Parts: sequence; C-alpha cells; structure tokens
Amino acid sequence: MTADSHPEAGAAAVAAVDAALASRRSVRAFLPTPVERATIEAILGAASRAPSGTNTQPWKVHVLTGAARAALSRKIVAVFDDPQALAAQREAYDYYPTDWVSPYLDRRRKIGWDLYGLLGIARGDRHRMHAQHRRNFEFFGAPVGLMFTIDDSLRQGSWLDYGMFLQSVMIAARARGLDTCPQAAFLRFHRIILDHLGAPPGEQLVCGMSLGHADPAAPENRLVTERAPVAEFTRFHA
Ligand SMILES: Cc1cc2nc3c(=O)[nH]c(=O)nc-3n(C[C@H](O)[C@H](O)[C@H](O)COP(=O)(O)O)c2cc1C
Repeated sequence: MTADSHPEAGAAAVAAVDAALASRRSVRAFLPTPVERATIEAILGAASRAPSGTNTQPWKVHVLTGAARAALSRKIVAVFDDPQALAAQREAYDYYPTDWVSPYLDRRRKIGWDLYGLLGIARGDRHRMHAQHRRNFEFFGAPVGLMFTIDDSLRQGSWLDYGMFLQSVMIAARARGLDTCPQAAFLRFHRIILDHLGAPPGEQLVCGMSLGHADPAAPENRLVTERAPVAEFTRFHA
C-alpha cells in the first residue's frame, strides 16, 4: 500500500475495525506464551500512525521481556508488600480525581466489585484485594510489559495525542489476536521504574501495559464492562 492509497472502505473494513474495537478489553490473566519481537515491532509501527499535533509524536516505549521484566516486577512487588516503603511512594501525576462525583464514582465502584465478584473476593477481604492488586505488578502473567514515557517539556495536548497512540497499540495488538491491559497502577512506582529503565532526566512515566495471549480459563477475563449508550453522552445540534 502506498502512502496515499487507502484500504477499500466497505462492509469488510467496517466489520474488521469494529471487531477490533469491540473485542478490546482489559485482560488481567495471560498465558506465558511469548510474543515475538517482530510482532511487538509491527504493533508499535502500526500504532505510530496515530495522529499528534504538528506531528510531535510524543510517545517513547520501553519493552520489557524475560529477565528485565521479571526484575522490575520483583522490585515493585518488594515495595508494594512493605507498608512503610509503599507509603513513601508518590503518584507520577494525578491520573484520577481526588474528589469522585457521580456518575464516575459509581462506574469506578461497579468495575471494582464486578471484578472482585468474579474472583470470589469478599468486601473487606484486604488480604486478597492486596494480592489481586499485586497482579498488576506481575503484568498479570503477561510475557511482555510495556512502559510508556513522555518528555517533561511537552504539554497537555501531547497527552491527548498519547492516548490515541495507546489505543492504537491496543487495537493493533487485537488485530494480531493479542490482548492488553493498560495500567495506571504503575504510576505510584514511577521512580523505581524510570530508574530500572535507565530513563534520562526529563522523561516521565505515562502508564504501563501488559501484552500477551489472554488466558481463556481465567475468571477475571470473563469481566464484561458496560458503556453508556450513545444518546446518553451525545447531543446532536442541527
Ligand atoms: C490509562 C488506563 C489505565 C488503567 N489502569 C489500570 C490498572 O492499573 N489496572 C487494571 O487492572 N486496569 C486498568 N485499566 C483498565 C480499566 O479498568 C478498563 O479500561 C475499564 O474498566 C474498561 O474496561 P475494558 O478495558 O475491559 O473495556 C486502565 C485503563 C486505562 C485506559
């Protein structure tokens, strides 16, 4: 395909794009099956077609596999399991609001309880909640951990661009039969992560992501999240 050609529009294209969009979901249990480096490169190459203001391309990606991935998990889990060390960690930035209001609070609660419900974790079972949260830092068993960083000098608009890139990564993964989980849970450990990556000063963590093959037998992967209907968040003006 040349730069100015376009794939045929039509029912097959609509079905393929919509299927990738609709089947993307956050997977929280992966099989250990490895993902080839060429596949990861193809996913990132496809996602790099994401738009960005004045073609800034604000994304920087760190791909962790094998010993590098395992060592980072160990470092984070050691801190996560040590209440004193954990209390000393600060979020890289405010991903979530401090004051939650409806309907966002209700949605946030629902996904939490739905997930714990599937896993049979009772309300108040802090031990199992902690253990489930820890799975984030083991990349939910995925063979590939991605860390996304951005240059500190870039502003809010570049973060908007970044979100488009992240979704493109997830959709390109889906098109190849792979699954992902974007993860803000890593933000609390940004210093440990940036140090582990040897990131230069001025590079900030945006989020992490697990990438791999979904474990079809895992109950947490049966989670179905709801969406408000189009009419609820859209107004047509004519
Ligand atoms: C930027 C971002 C960060 C997220 N962080 C986490 C995380 O740390 N851990 C987690 O289990 N899910 C995380 N999620 C997944 C959301 O909970 C999920 O996207 C949402 O509930 C909708 O479900 P779905 O992705 O399965 O459609 C994150 C999603 C996004 C977009």
